[in-house]
Amino acid sequence: MCGIVGYIGKRDVAPLLLEGLQRLEYRGYDSAGLVITGKPAAGKTSATLKMVKAKGRVRDLEARVPKRFAGTTGIAHTRWATHGAPSDENAHPHMDPEGKVAIVHNGIIDNADELRTKLVSDGVVFLSETDTEVVTHLIARSQAPTLEEKVRQAVRTIEGTYGIAVMHADFPDRIVVARNGSPVVLGIGEKEMFVASDVAALVSHTRQVVTLDDGEMATLKADDFRTYTTEGSRTSATPTTVEWEAESYDMGGHDTYMHKEISEQADAVDRVLRGRIDDRFSTVHLGGLNLDAREARGVRRVKILGCGTSYHAGLIGAQLIEELARIPADAEPASEFRYRNPVVDPDTLYVAVSQSGETYDVLAAVQELKRKGARVLGVVNVVGSAIARETDGGVYVHAGPEVCVVSTKCFTNTVVSFALLALHLGRIRDLSVADGKRIIEGLRKLPAQISEILATEDDIAKLAQEYAGAGSMMFIGRVRGYPVALEASLKLKEISYIHAEAYPASELKHGPLALIEPALPTVAIVPDDELLEKNRAALEEIKARSGPILAVAHAPQEKADHTIVVPKNETELDSILMGIPLQLLAYHTALALGRDIDKPRNLAKSVTVE
Ligand code: F6R
Repeated sequence: MCGIVGYIGKRDVAPLLLEGLQRLEYRGYDSAGLVITGKPAAGKTSATLKMVKAKGRVRDLEARVPKRFAGTTGIAHTRWATHGAPSDENAHPHMDPEGKVAIVHNGIIDNADELRTKLVSDGVVFLSETDTEVVTHLIARSQAPTLEEKVRQAVRTIEGTYGIAVMHADFPDRIVVARNGSPVVLGIGEKEMFVASDVAALVSHTRQVVTLDDGEMATLKADDFRTYTTEGSRTSATPTTVEWEAESYDMGGHDTYMHKEISEQADAVDRVLRGRIDDRFSTVHLGGLNLDAREARGVRRVKILGCGTSYHAGLIGAQLIEELARIPADAEPASEFRYRNPVVDPDTLYVAVSQSGETYDVLAAVQELKRKGARVLGVVNVVGSAIARETDGGVYVHAGPEVCVVSTKCFTNTVVSFALLALHLGRIRDLSVADGKRIIEGLRKLPAQISEILATEDDIAKLAQEYAGAGSMMFIGRVRGYPVALEASLKLKEISYIHAEAYPASELKHGPLALIEPALPTVAIVPDDELLEKNRAALEEIKARSGPILAVAHAPQEKADHTIVVPKNETELDSILMGIPLQLLAYHTALALGRDIDKPRNLAKSVTVE
């Protein structure tokens, strides 16, 4: 959600910043801007800051950058609007009227209105409607002798979340950055330094990174960097190496990232299993879990917290933990949990789920739990992300970078990670060797079965053509099928903008059956499990009201107009496969409707604000 990139070194900075913005565009795409500077003119200590901004995409900004636009230091931003509509004025960077200070910001300043009123009464003229601009003026008006001190004073005055990068005409040899709640990563190069809100913007230049903690600041110079707290004390910052290659961020011959990421799922699942299966004891090893057998046996409940698609993965995770480990488990949206003063129980194991590891609602829930002494594990994709660092241990999802705003491969890998966690907990508790072996065999089959499903894409594309005209769609599933229905309906609405609802199949006759008619197609999840007959009864009820039915099942369903047949795995693992054709259905429906699939309207990846 909003992307920041900055550079200081010897290279021509504008093309570098534009390339970084392209890589970050999935974090926000309603406007973009950059500011650059070079060395001060001979005999001067102050440099000139040159800024270009544009409403729209990064390509609109690129079109506005003058041909001769030289500089070797700069910061840039791609925006997802929170305060103030998308416009040239509200695009970042924000500069003071004198052109001394430029700032890019991710996050939300909670006390912006109050500060703005005060600054206006002091005679300050605001050029935008954004919350960020108050920070620009605070820095510009500071009498402190150094840029670091000016920024420090400003961040002590503001309340809220921020990842900021600041340039100042009087201090052209540096960029100062600060973090509280929004990611800031430094990229360490050879006589050049980078900063970004996401490693995606850095990996083509350097894989040596330093991730700032909340309350930390940094000064970047071409040949040096240092980190310190907002109170001014030095912090130690040892660069780590990013595992993901620059190529993993490329489209790799696909037309969209979503298609690429759906297609990568067999490999991604293979990766999350690799090195973790222990055939000797029919269990799995999860190196980073940080939970010994005695502690695992003491767990009385598991509570899973996540948002959106990750919450849906958590719902399946809770079912897997109940089924395999026989520990009562449930999942709740982290965004709700954190606001309802929950009872925090010492015998409950809390699990935070997040692809990005930066979702603010999840992070805030984790921080609240930690304050109350709870044990919190993470199921996270991005190594070293805020949630990964804040939790006591956990399972990395190993899906590789997910660039498309809507999540697909991370959902699948997260569910598989939960299957691993459930198997691990189960084998420490009551799960038999035979059942452990059976689940392991099922897990091993997944990559080939995923490839089998993906090979039916053309058929699914034809079905999508048929359903793309629907004004609304119903998704139903029972027990294991219900979270699959929830996720499939979310995927469809996010990228096709077709209204969709998901219901437990058992709830149909308690209300939603009233909606069923020939114009409302239902997608029904019908696994061959102990609930098959019950699910078939729901299909009968829909058919009796002339509702069109598309079933996802292990065998053709007589009452359905169409069935997408998926391969059968172990009953506990079937939900992992049943969602995959529905990702393709959403994709091809959106394609048929001409939607901008990788950048759905009003959405951005990594929701780092409340
Ligand atoms: C939907 C989607 C979102 C995210 C949610 C949480 O396709 O991607 O619903 O799942 O914003 O994001 P993470 O998993 O990064 O915490």
